[in-house]
Amino acid sequence: MNNSLHSYAFGIATKNIKGEIIEVYYPFPRLSPCNSEVLKIVELFENLGGLENGYLQLQTTKDHNYIQKINDLVKTQEFTEQVSVISEVLKSENPILTLQVEDNPPTNIPQAFLKLHLLSHRLVKPNTINLDGIFGVLKNIAWTNQGAIDVEDLSERQLDARKKCESIDIISVDKFPKMTNYVVPKGVRIADTSRVRLGAYIGEGTTIMHEGFVNFNAGTEGTAMVEGRISAGVIVGNSSDLGGGCSTMGTLSGGGTELVSVGENCLIGANAGIGFPLADGCIVEAGLYVTAGTKVNLLNEEGDLIKIAKAKEISEIKNLLFRRNSLSGAVECAPIKSAVNLNEELHSHN
Ligand SMILES: CC(C)(COP(=O)(O)OP(=O)(O)OC[C@H]1O[C@@H](n2cnc3c(N)ncnc32)[C@H](O)[C@@H]1OP(=O)(O)O)[C@@H](O)C(=O)NCCC(=O)NCCS
Repeated sequence: MNNSLHSYAFGIATKNIKGEIIEVYYPFPRLSPCNSEVLKIVELFENLGGLENGYLQLQTTKDHNYIQKINDLVKTQEFTEQVSVISEVLKSENPILTLQVEDNPPTNIPQAFLKLHLLSHRLVKPNTINLDGIFGVLKNIAWTNQGAIDVEDLSERQLDARKKCESIDIISVDKFPKMTNYVVPKGVRIADTSRVRLGAYIGEGTTIMHEGFVNFNAGTEGTAMVEGRISAGVIVGNSSDLGGGCSTMGTLSGGGTELVSVGENCLIGANAGIGFPLADGCIVEAGLYVTAGTKVNLLNEEGDLIKIAKAKEISEIKNLLFRRNSLSGAVECAPIKSAVNLNEELHSHN
């Protein structure tokens, strides 16, 4: 984990009926390459009246000239190019500026949403930022065709809508919204957008089919075909396939402690699953679930037993085929004789 995370973003917040912030959309989150950039902005805002909890609710008219001040301070081409977007943000009802200097656990909704945006904008990779306690920080929200609604406000808002002959379509009730309502990263295909949560990191060239799912703080490094589940904390290497209905074990519940990952050029077969880090070039037979502690017969190329080991103990060996011997029932793995035939045509058109 990094101890510092220099980042800032202007955003538009949604508030509940009580006036509390329930979510934030940041169109242009920025990871500051130069430490002094964020520190200068922090200093500017402290001089102008202070920053509480790492964010500042801006006053639409009064704070408009801050952009020029920040532009003068930052002087990067990237920031200058985004000035018009930020001015639009400042015309909204609830503009906000959030700043991050230390990579502490998020303590409020603007900070939590900034971290989720950094992941989905591919500015930081899964498992590299501190998300401890994020479930406790985020509110349970009804994500609707009329935007985010605090679940506690739902009946009142439904009634208001009906009185105006409108209806509220609730797309999901969850702490995390779907990623694509905040950012669609370049070069991805997502067949069912509700299956990818904000905070997912989707590499360029990834296709996620209807059965695929990607949690927050998880994702793919580059080209990948995802028809299975990528649980929180799991990262999939370049050119790998996750077959239909397969699963990567998460560590959020159920006592799993192994950090699960998938290497490059791997294939996890349909309805298979892993609970350990899979090395490059490995295949898991369709329907076979291999947990970290599964005892495996490690075979040589001739099919002779080398040793019995737990899957996690041989997780650094590349190019293995894991399968359940259909005659003996034992899980075994052997070197792959021919390279995995990942569907090249499919991958080249991701
Ligand atoms: C494990 C897998 C990769 C093996 O495929 P393969 O290398 O083509 O193997 P084959 O089916 O040609 O089998 C090779 C030999 O091993 C035997 N064999 C295969 N699986 C076996 C098993 N589980 N137990 C015992 N023997 C097995 C075959 O009978 C064959 O024997 P032979 O040499 O006497 O003819 C394949 O079965 C698989 O599960 N692929 C995943 C595909 C998938 O799910 N893709 C995602 C789609 S959404």
